[in-house]
Amino acid sequence: MIVVVGGTGTVGRQIVDQLHRDGRKVRVVTRTPAASADAAQGIEVVAGDVHDRRSMVSALAGARTVVCTVQGGGGKGRNGPKGIEGAAIPMLLNLARDAGIEHFVYFSSASARPDSPVEFFRLKFEVERALRAGDVPFSILRPTHLMDTWTETLAASIVRKGKATVLGSGTSPVSWVAGADVARVAATLATGPGEGWTADIGGPEALPLTTVNELIATALGRSIEGHNRMPVRMLRTMAPLTRPFNEVLARQMRMGALLDTQPQVVDSEAVWSRFGRPLRFAEWLEVNGAVPGR
Ligand SMILES: NC(=O)c1ccc[n+]([C@@H]2O[C@H](COP(=O)([O-])OP(=O)(O)OC[C@H]3O[C@@H](n4cnc5c(N)ncnc54)[C@H](OP(=O)(O)O)[C@@H]3O)[C@@H](O)[C@H]2O)c1
Repeated sequence: MIVVVGGTGTVGRQIVDQLHRDGRKVRVVTRTPAASADAAQGIEVVAGDVHDRRSMVSALAGARTVVCTVQGGGGKGRNGPKGIEGAAIPMLLNLARDAGIEHFVYFSSASARPDSPVEFFRLKFEVERALRAGDVPFSILRPTHLMDTWTETLAASIVRKGKATVLGSGTSPVSWVAGADVARVAATLATGPGEGWTADIGGPEALPLTTVNELIATALGRSIEGHNRMPVRMLRTMAPLTRPFNEVLARQMRMGALLDTQPQVVDSEAVWSRFGRPLRFAEWLEVNGAVPGR
């Protein structure tokens, strides 16, 4: 049994779909099982909140593997990074050890590092460190930026305002990666043993944000009428001022500044030669479209 904690999220549900298609026994853990369509397809869906020890003990019962895609990056209060990466995931690791889990597949980020200016990425690195120091066999996936997530945000601005959103200069290259490709890597790893496999996972081409906006506008059949520019200096100044009112937006500003201030290009040749060719951004848009709020 493979348990996907976060199996309703952008990547999680693609992992669940692949495992189900491949005939694997998979269990989705979510705070709102009634909202999940998986049960109708014969997939086991259970209620679980990573803060709630009892619900997680029962979610892990009988499992061999845990895939963890839960994140606090988009949450606030105890569902923010301190609560999720700082407390709940470390507890989940202990529960996984106690339950005799043989493989813990963890989603970190290519931006996770001990000296990151963004707390979320420092805490993700700490989870990686705990995995490496612990007793549970593991794999760590470190994706760059998901095409799925960014397309939704960028397309919304183009559709509603005719404007391209540009964080930083918009000219720094980024190895955008498709959620489906990252999900394929995770689903394949999850069916094997935990051997400490760890890799940065980026797509096959490095494109600046301005090019991505143009690709999305083309896919939408729209033209870009103007820009919503947020230079790094503005992001850095606004983040602490925004934090008291909107901690999620403040975090996004800090993360946005990294597009220009930290390298966002990774070489994942070795990953794709093992797990199959990844999609280019234009191919992803052809398959998925660019409709916001999909
Ligand atoms: N998106 C990106 O660009 C990107 C880039 C690099 C790395 N990553 C990493 O990749 C992983 C997957 O990202 P994603 O964008 O697919 O995530 P996502 O869509 O935000 O999904 C997060 C999942 O976490 C679950 N969750 C949140 N709080 C929970 C709680 N208290 N208890 C139980 N479940 C909880 C949600 O389930 P329910 O709401 O159903 O409970 C949801 O399924 C994350 O670790 C993320 O940091 C993402």
